[in-house]
Amino acid sequence: MSMIALDQCSTSFDHLHYNLFPLMSALPIFSLDGRVAIVTGGSRGIGFEIARAMRESGAEVVIADRLRDEGEASSAELGARFMEVDVTSSGSVRDLVEQVTAAHGRIDILATIAGIAHNMPAEETTDEDWRRVMSVNLDGLFFCCREVGRVMLAQGKGVIVNMASMSGIIANHPQPQAAYNASKAGVILLTKSLAGEWAGRGVRVNAISPGYVGTPMTKLGLDTPEWKRVWLQETPLGRLAEPSEIAPLAVFLASDASSYMTGASVVIDGGYTAW
Ligand SMILES: NC(=O)c1ccc[n+]([C@@H]2O[C@H](COP(=O)([O-])OP(=O)(O)OC[C@H]3O[C@@H](n4cnc5c(N)ncnc54)[C@H](O)[C@@H]3O)[C@@H](O)[C@H]2O)c1
Repeated sequence: MSMIALDQCSTSFDHLHYNLFPLMSALPIFSLDGRVAIVTGGSRGIGFEIARAMRESGAEVVIADRLRDEGEASSAELGARFMEVDVTSSGSVRDLVEQVTAAHGRIDILATIAGIAHNMPAEETTDEDWRRVMSVNLDGLFFCCREVGRVMLAQGKGVIVNMASMSGIIANHPQPQAAYNASKAGVILLTKSLAGEWAGRGVRVNAISPGYVGTPMTKLGLDTPEWKRVWLQETPLGRLAEPSEIAPLAVFLASDASSYMTGASVVIDGGYTAW
C-alpha cells in the first residue's frame, strides 16, 4: 500500500465510509468481492451502514427490511437490491431466502441487524410488549439464521453476523428495558449454539455487541436529558457511536480475516462495559 493510500486511511469516523472499505478490500483477506450478502434491517441505521460497507467491500448486497420506501431508497443509493421481509414471519423469511437463492444461486453472508427496542418497567410490560420484542429480536433472528443456515450448510460455506448488544451482557440504566436485554442475551447464546453446531460444516457464526449508537432507535434516550446524561457519563469515550463505526467490525467478521472466529460476541461500546 502506498503512502498516499495509508494517508487516506483516516481513523476519523467522519471519513470511514469515504475511503476505508475500498482500501481494505484491496487486501484479499478483507475483500467480500462477489459474495452474496443479505442484510436484514438494512433500510436505515446500523444496518444501512453495514450494507454500505459490505457493498464497498465488493459484495452483492440484498437489503431485507419491512420498511419498503426507505429500503428502496437506501438500496438505490448503494446499488443494492431491496426485498421486503417481516422477520417475525418464518414464511416471509423463507420467501426471501428462496428469492435470493433463485436470483444469485447462493448466499455467502447473512447479517441479522433487524431489531426493535422497548422501554417499559418490567412490572408494566404486557404479554404483547414482551412478545413483540422477542418476536423481532430473537425469533426473527433465529428464523433468518435457520433458513439461510440451511443454504450455507448445503454449500458447505457461509458466514453469519448477528446483531446482539451490550444489553445482552449488562442491564442498561436508567431506562427500563428488561425484554430487550433478555432478547439480546438470547442472541449471544444462540450465536454460540449455532457456531458449535455448524463449525464442522463450514459455517461461522459471530455476534456484534454495540453500546449506544446514534440512530432512530436511540432518539428517545437522546431526547430525555436524564437518560442522555447517564449514557454519556457511563461511556468512557464520552459519546455515542456513529452507525458507520460499527460497520467495519461487521465487514471483518464477514471476511476471511476472521477465519478462526466463531461463537464470539464482539463488544464495541466506547468502553461502557469496562466500568
Ligand atoms: N442503536 C443502538 O444504540 C444499538 C445498540 C446495540 C444494538 N443495536 C441493535 O442494532 C440493530 C439496528 O438498530 P438501529 O439502532 O440501527 O435501529 P433502527 O430502528 O434505526 O433500525 C432497525 C431496522 O430494523 C428493521 N426492522 C424492525 N423490525 C423488523 C421486522 N419485523 N422485519 C424486518 N425488518 C425489521 C427496521 O425497519 C429498521 O430498518 C438492532 O438489532 C438493535 O437492537 C442498536
